[in-house]
Amino acid sequence: MVRAVAVAHPNIALVKYWGKRDTALNLPAVPSLSLTLSRFHTRTEVTWGAEADRVVFNGADADTETARKVLATLDRLDRARPPCLVETVNSFPSAAGLASSASGFAALVLAAAAAAGNDLPREQLSVLARQGSGSACRSLWGGFVEWKLGDRADGTDSHGVPVAPADHWDVRMVVGIVSGNKKPVGSTDGMDRSRRTSPYYDRWVRLGPERVAAGRDAVLRRDLEALGTVMESSTFEMHATMHTSVPPLIYWLPGTVACLHAVQALRRGGIGAWATMDAGPNVKVLCLGSDAESVAAALSPHVDRVEILSPGGDPTVEVLG
Ligand code: DP6
Repeated sequence: MVRAVAVAHPNIALVKYWGKRDTALNLPAVPSLSLTLSRFHTRTEVTWGAEADRVVFNGADADTETARKVLATLDRLDRARPPCLVETVNSFPSAAGLASSASGFAALVLAAAAAAGNDLPREQLSVLARQGSGSACRSLWGGFVEWKLGDRADGTDSHGVPVAPADHWDVRMVVGIVSGNKKPVGSTDGMDRSRRTSPYYDRWVRLGPERVAAGRDAVLRRDLEALGTVMESSTFEMHATMHTSVPPLIYWLPGTVACLHAVQALRRGGIGAWATMDAGPNVKVLCLGSDAESVAAALSPHVDRVEILSPGGDPTVEVLG
């Protein structure tokens, strides 16, 4: 019996992943680019060689679907594995409006591989995390990370690649929490609906590579206006694809739109702030560290809570013996 523990951070997409070209392998239809966040994290401990398989999430047995996905990830790591105990705790409330599946599957693959004594390269761990939840493949690194589309049929070249470390640029994500309720349609089902029914889906897929190239270039040049502009384009193109799905996927609430107007007003007032939203109503605003308090003040009348988050570092892993 060996135990290992890993700690990983969530990430927010600057250029979005929406759509799969292969559902079985969880291969994306578009490349994407993200920023890993500090402060919030998932801590996962894996006991390799327990009495029976068991998945515990925030102190209670995980629901059947979560447990199935977690155990399937362990099976992919080792078909002949022993029974395992997986214990996961999120440092952030699930109502924080940040995807916990990204930090969750990143911490899981790191802890499981270490407990199994399997010294896999981080790219291979990223591939394993991707099969659990796509966006998780980006949380294997801190800072700015690109998820490569890849072109191999088996998906072994579709994984995260670090673009720049957390200390590359003093930016912030100001997260306006409009609602902490669970989203009505999950990402996996929503993406499938968009692929099948949105007349904008093909165009969304065609635009992906150039959006990521522009985003990567803006990150490397530390050009906030260029990055903010491409981030908003990617966000609104993704939501246009969602809105034109049948039936429409409308993740926004009135507070979401109020925040979008507040961000535009900030820009008219000379503050560099750009908005992004995922498959939910919360608004995340990219700005410089020096503007974060002003951005938070502008969002706060429209939201339940505001969190100011900095770029976060690499995940960590430790064998406990
Ligand atoms: C809108 O990674 O949650 O947040 O691969 O089906 O588990 P699955 O989806 P998931 O999708 C995230 C979609 C997004 C955009 C993004 O993070 O790139």
